Amino acid sequence: MKAIRVHFTATESTLRMDEVPKPEPVADQIVIRAQAIGLNRADLGRRRMAQPGQPEQPATPGLDVAGSVEAVGAEVRGWRRGDQVMALVRGAYAEYVATRAVTAYHPPRGMRMTDAASLPCVFLTAYYALTKLAGLKRGETVLIHAAGSGVGMAGIQIAHALGARVLTSAGSDERVARGRQLGAEAGVNYSSQDVTMELNRLTGGRGVNVVLDSVGGSIFDATLKALAPGGRIVTVGGPAGPRTAYDEGALTAKGQWVKPMTVFAEAQADTEQKGWAQLKAWFESGTLRTVVQQVMPWTQAEAAQKLLTDRGVFGKIVMTVG
Ligand SMILES: NC(=O)c1ccc[n+]([C@@H]2O[C@H](COP(=O)([O-])OP(=O)(O)OC[C@H]3O[C@@H](n4cnc5c(N)ncnc54)[C@H](OP(=O)(O)O)[C@@H]3O)[C@@H](O)[C@H]2O)c1
Repeated sequence: MKAIRVHFTATESTLRMDEVPKPEPVADQIVIRAQAIGLNRADLGRRRMAQPGQPEQPATPGLDVAGSVEAVGAEVRGWRRGDQVMALVRGAYAEYVATRAVTAYHPPRGMRMTDAASLPCVFLTAYYALTKLAGLKRGETVLIHAAGSGVGMAGIQIAHALGARVLTSAGSDERVARGRQLGAEAGVNYSSQDVTMELNRLTGGRGVNVVLDSVGGSIFDATLKALAPGGRIVTVGGPAGPRTAYDEGALTAKGQWVKPMTVFAEAQADTEQKGWAQLKAWFESGTLRTVVQQVMPWTQAEAAQKLLTDRGVFGKIVMTVG
């Protein structure tokens, strides 16, 4: 089968279409025949973190896939060959990918595969962050950073569906405005405004109860200063760079906390897929919608990744396979 893998030279990394063995499912796995692959910022990280000579080289990036079930492991129940499926996987840039069935999901009824492939990573991340970790309550004020990011676009919609008052942020007024169309009441442009001051103004000085921070860098520090007593910040990734150190004791004294989250750990722990059941119901009722900016053939993977690198995407980019 074909797979797109990262290859390194002395100075750069490139994506190359390689011929590799087709995977077989082990006991608790299914193998998915890919029709569409969703891009994530983590895919770019594969190109930085991976080093030649490590056993996993050359690495196959990709976390999101949608297609049909090709093969089913002996212990797997509930999937049959030919079923439509979407999944959170490792190594999605391939014609076939094996994954544990616990992170394979039935797509929303009637949804195109190119839309389904845009869902698993960012919607599950935002859902577990806001519900399981932060325990967001109806009526609380939540700040979802980076309205135009995959995680942000999903987080705004989920927080709105949970009945919270949603604030957002982005790097331009236009992107903040698009965040408002997704359900945010107001937003901050972190390229041109003082984030702390603006959040204090928007909350009447009370501060923000919950933050989903997928940006990091100095924006994290500015947000921390606008956190309400008892406030919670869930962090995932951070394209703007490392977060500034903070005084945990001082936070605890105000009943506040900061917690990192990884979507794979949460999705694998959710063995009954309760998170996806809720998200699927919201998609089928029209409460949530997909935001796919562009669909491209996977032969243009390099160009697709460049759009993400250049911050030229609102929502998601999806690649079609074959
Ligand atoms: N831990 C987990 O399980 C988990 C799960 C999902 C995602 N993540 C991480 O969360 C982060 C967001 O993921 P994503 O897929 O939602 O990203 P994405 O769609 O690529 O969006 C990232 C957004 O960050 C904003 N940004 C602010 N400063 C930036 C900078 N210096 N460079 C680049 N972008 C900057 C950009 O919006 P503006 O142009 O409007 O500023 C950009 O749209 C990534 O670090 C990802 O790896 C982690």
